Amino acid sequence: MPFSLVINNARLSNGDTVHIGCEKKRIKSVSSKVLEGKQVIDARGRWLMPGIIDVHTHIRDMELAHKEDWGSASASAAKGGITTVCDMPNTRPATFDFDGLQAKRQAAGKSMVNYGFNFGVTENNHDVLKKVTGINAFKMFMAESSAGYVVENSDVIRRVMEISAQRGIPLMVHSELQSCVEESHARYAHNMDNHHLLRHRNCAIRATERLLQIQRETGGRLYIAHVSTREEMELIQQARQKGQTVYCEVTPHHLFLDHSIAQTAGHFAKVNPPLREKTDNDALQQAVADGIVDTIGTDHAPHTLDEKARPYPEAPSGFPGLETSLALMYRLVREKRISKTTLEKLMCAHPARIFNIKDRGEIRPGYYADLILIDENESWRVEPETFLTRAKYSPFSGMRLTGRVVTTVINGAVVWHNNVLNPVKGMPLEYR
Ligand code: NCD
Ligand code: ZN
Ligand code: ZN
Repeated sequence: MPFSLVINNARLSNGDTVHIGCEKKRIKSVSSKVLEGKQVIDARGRWLMPGIIDVHTHIRDMELAHKEDWGSASASAAKGGITTVCDMPNTRPATFDFDGLQAKRQAAGKSMVNYGFNFGVTENNHDVLKKVTGINAFKMFMAESSAGYVVENSDVIRRVMEISAQRGIPLMVHSELQSCVEESHARYAHNMDNHHLLRHRNCAIRATERLLQIQRETGGRLYIAHVSTREEMELIQQARQKGQTVYCEVTPHHLFLDHSIAQTAGHFAKVNPPLREKTDNDALQQAVADGIVDTIGTDHAPHTLDEKARPYPEAPSGFPGLETSLALMYRLVREKRISKTTLEKLMCAHPARIFNIKDRGEIRPGYYADLILIDENESWRVEPETFLTRAKYSPFSGMRLTGRVVTTVINGAVVWHNNVLNPVKGMPLEYR
């Protein structure tokens, strides 16, 4: 019986050439022989990678649909090779109660890529955290960042970490300390040049210290999102040496940009945690190379151009990242800092493993056919006007990158191929 979809002559990250047979939604065969199928793609030796899993995506939609909705965000993801997104809870309505989760589920029905939900932690929703099911993680903001709710009290965090431990659900944290951010705001002039001082590195370092201290007492699966400083990397490494379970994520922007980019990018470079120093870029890249970093998250955080053009205090933080993350990470492969296999672990296998995502993140018979083909030679310029996300700006604008996603297959369906989008529906994630 022919397969429903075949990808012949694909090159794996380890250099092997294979032929992939998919039956409906799943990979059926990884073969050394050319296969036949109803639909056949000749990869012509291009790199075949598992579809990327981005566990840190802000999709907006609903009452924030003017910024982005599931249609534009998931198209942007598919173009960027991201076959799964996990949405963040700071939407309107927010995802920190059952009604909010229900509204989110309904909105996500429009998604072309697979999706999961990170469920918001507030000061007083612990009863919900104990019961809610079918979520990817708990998400806690320790400082205000387009969320409107903040948890920095150690006793509250301790209780949340205990629930995380009991339920085996990871706790993702935006690790900056609100009180510290407020202290910095009293000290420095409020303008874009000072953004990294107004949210001083010490605020991130102190928040991460607090989290690691509490995790040591409670256990629990702590996941620190978008780590931005060298010091936090050191703290995380020390905690692991003591046997603590702590995972960490970095974003492409914290790896490759420092705060001086604001001189040209202005508010397009306004993001939380802020872009730091070149020495932090180096330290984070080294942490990726040394295997200390677990995952890459895009922190795709779209806002409108009008909103970004407001005066500094009102201009929201965040920018899109779904269409640039793979090519940015591929820079580290080209510079021989990491192997392609390591890149696949960071962007696919590790997110699946840490968040217990079922049957995704690797190229294996029986797993869902989430697959991408990459042209490793194609060089392109970041031109935000051509983005599929509704947020058509980027602090990477004008940068030349190498490596482009030619084909994106999601659940055995070709969603993106040779610059053509074929919208199909993604699936909600299943958990082990
Ligand atoms: C995010 C947003 O806009 O939702 N903004 C950002 O600067 N990263 C929120 C967040 O992840 O902190
Ligand atoms: Zn954040
Ligand atoms: Zn975020």
